[in-house]
Amino acid sequence: MLDVIILSKTQETADIISFELGKSDGSALPAFEAGSHIDVQVNAKLVRQYSLYNAPKNHQTYKIAVLKDANSRGGSSAVHDTFEVGDTIQISSPRNLFPLKNNSNKTLLFAGGIGITPLLSMAQVLNELEQNFELHYFSRSKSHTAFFDDLSNSPFAEQVFFHFSDERDDKDRVVKQALSQEGALNKDSHLYTCGPNGFMDYIFGSAKALGWSEENLHKEVFNAAPIELDDSDKAFTLELVRSGIHLEIPADKTVLEVLEDADIELDSSCEQGVCGSCITKVISGTPDHRDQFLTDIEKSLNDQFTPCCSRALTDSLSIDL
Ligand code: FES
Repeated sequence: MLDVIILSKTQETADIISFELGKSDGSALPAFEAGSHIDVQVNAKLVRQYSLYNAPKNHQTYKIAVLKDANSRGGSSAVHDTFEVGDTIQISSPRNLFPLKNNSNKTLLFAGGIGITPLLSMAQVLNELEQNFELHYFSRSKSHTAFFDDLSNSPFAEQVFFHFSDERDDKDRVVKQALSQEGALNKDSHLYTCGPNGFMDYIFGSAKALGWSEENLHKEVFNAAPIELDDSDKAFTLELVRSGIHLEIPADKTVLEVLEDADIELDSSCEQGVCGSCITKVISGTPDHRDQFLTDIEKSLNDQFTPCCSRALTDSLSIDL
């Protein structure tokens, strides 16, 4: 973890605050790519992931924006209410689980509300590279739209399309038109979406219905329903092949919990199957995939799984640990 200072705190909309973070000595922070996020230590018990929205070339500071979520489990409220300019907080180095593909023929970015953050960083990179792209930004109203002025005055303002549902709710028409425009349905075109799960499912569903291939669809997910184990869950044996250890995973514990109890370290962050930081290679056995991070194609290969929430369909699972 890195210590950083909160350099500024800006109310972007009634429920979105942005923060600029930097080193106390003014030196540069680790470089990052568009689509990256950082873990933020909110308090002793809470870590949350936030996407960086600044241009990667400007890594003197990191910029994040936080929506005060009405269904917050404590993270966003604590950030809004307790983080102040001058405070030192701890963050991880940036990690990119939502990378831009190189040499895309056409790139379509679909943001739903606060999902604008990683896409804003991507738009700056695509503009620098003079790539063919469009950013479609859906929000409730202009007043709910973070970075409206920045985007409207940006060098790529003509490639930004705002869609406010309080003015005209024509999402179906707009999305279909963007997805089926000339040059979009191409094996080298890529679509990136970030926002509420329902919004991203809708964008993916619309694209697939029009013939887009799943390999060209990319999404960033940070909020999943809490993982709950129930009566239908079964115990299984976990073999750590490299360590030669066998562990029993009871029905009421996750693999990650059992590993932690055994003092076996594994990277983890969201513990909800959305960030991908715990992904581990599977050597034999069939995982019961319960995450939202792996694509359907990746899940069907059964050669990796997310120990924070996924289990096993077979009596035992051997993993590369
Ligand atoms: Fe995030 Fe497992 S810790 S997917």
